Amino acid sequence: MTTGGLITRSFVRLVGVLCLIVILAACEGLGGEPVIVATQLPATSAPADRGYPLDPPDLALGASLFAQRCAACHGESGRGDGELVLAGQIPPPPDFTDPETARAQRPSDWFMTITHGRIENGMPPWAGALTEDERWAVAMFTYTMATTQGQLEQGGEVHQASVQAGYWQNHHEGLLSKMPCRPQ
Ligand code: HEC
Repeated sequence: MTTGGLITRSFVRLVGVLCLIVILAACEGLGGEPVIVATQLPATSAPADRGYPLDPPDLALGASLFAQRCAACHGESGRGDGELVLAGQIPPPPDFTDPETARAQRPSDWFMTITHGRIENGMPPWAGALTEDERWAVAMFTYTMATTQGQLEQGGEVHQASVQAGYWQNHHEGLLSKMPCRPQ
């Protein structure tokens, strides 16, 4: 093998490597194509309105937040008779102990009112002061205020009676019999 042949072969290899670099650079976006760095919209500071909480709301936390942050207007029991209302500084809010108040709206509606407030009517926005979890906790706690202990006990009795009557078992077996492949 001559020295000339060796030089030619190294030169060809060098040109090949250079071409490869140019091609790779073009693929990487150096060839004038815009580089796609992200395919998702950038996060905004506003929380997404999912309409439901990510974790089960903590009702005990909701109760303590209500006492600290809401009772001055809504009253300790949620009747709308807080001290600022009694002093005539705030117009009376709806009575949370009245089932009609709760039935008229969904918990997610209340979550949105708590988040954004209705400042023109005296209800402050809580998005800045409470986290999303805290707002769900206090929204769901507020929703429970229309449920009396008597109703909870009545619900428990209905449930017990239906368990004793085998309702759930029959219901369960009825559902299973409709499944195309029954789990054993
Ligand atoms: C400064 C007084 C004030 C405070 C504090 C306050 N609220 Fe209110 N809230 C009101 C008033 C007044 C309304 C009625 C607004 C209206 O009529 O549009 C209201 C309305 C609401 C509603 C909507 C009820 C409905 O049926 O439309 C919810 C839910 C609510 N408040 C929850 C809360 C929670 C939870 C807190 C505490 C984190 C809180 N509020 C703190 C005054 C207050």
